[in-house]
Amino acid sequence: MSFLRHHKKIEVNATLLLVLSLVVVSIGGIVEIAPLFYLENTIEKVKGMRPYSPLELAGRNIYVREGCYVCHSQMIRPLRDEVERYGHYSLAVESIYDHPFQWGSKRTGPDLARVGGRYSDEWHVDHLRNPRDVVPESIMPKYGFMLNKTLDGAHIEAVLVANSRVGVPYTEEMIANAARDFAVQVDPDGDWEEMQARYPGAQVRNFDGQPELTEMDALVAYLQMLGTLVDFSTFTPEASR
Ligand code: HEC
Repeated sequence: MSFLRHHKKIEVNATLLLVLSLVVVSIGGIVEIAPLFYLENTIEKVKGMRPYSPLELAGRNIYVREGCYVCHSQMIRPLRDEVERYGHYSLAVESIYDHPFQWGSKRTGPDLARVGGRYSDEWHVDHLRNPRDVVPESIMPKYGFMLNKTLDGAHIEAVLVANSRVGVPYTEEMIANAARDFAVQVDPDGDWEEMQARYPGAQVRNFDGQPELTEMDALVAYLQMLGTLVDFSTFTPEASR
């Protein structure tokens, strides 16, 4: 067969083989990836997603700073064992305001995408202070120092601005009120109604039980809202509509 004769040219010429292999692999890549940019269901539209409140965002920054993603993923895969353990598989839209996203690639500890509401605030504070107190076999590091690091929200407005520059829809009103909204989320006696109107479902309480607003408050506020925004009782996947 004559085309096999030509194939020999490719087999004996390493450069040609490499170039043609790259061409073939690129075609495969484009066929797989390009449609994702156009398919309507790549990012499914759901009710409930909103940008992080200033306090949650500060907690998220602490999570990133401490490298929690090195041991924890935030992406539940659509596999039976994961869905039974962690809850509904993660939707792309649930990471839409994450810069950078925290999907992770290593699970030394459990997935945290839906940890919000699973434990009490006290459990989280005890666990972060010394994981062995609540889970004796745990190998997680201690983060008790966060209880002593107070936050004044001085830079939180700039953090919202930075996020809005990369596409998070923070309004001018949200940015102007950032420092106030930040502080009022840990103060159930304060005027938190406006904050909650801006960030529906934001939980208002003293998360770490101390009078001061600390890094622990911010981190626990973040952990307690993870995976709680989308109402899955009203959600039907695009594929089964
Ligand atoms: C060295 C790896 C490691 C790091 C770093 C780490 N963790 Fe963990 N984490 C674990 C392990 C292992 C467990 C399971 C045992 C336990 O509950 O302590 C766990 C459990 C948890 C749980 C309970 C999850 C559940 O569903 O039971 C939470 C919440 C948590 N970690 C939060 C954090 C946060 C927040 C950080 C960063 C400040 C962090 N972890 C950093 C290893 C780690």
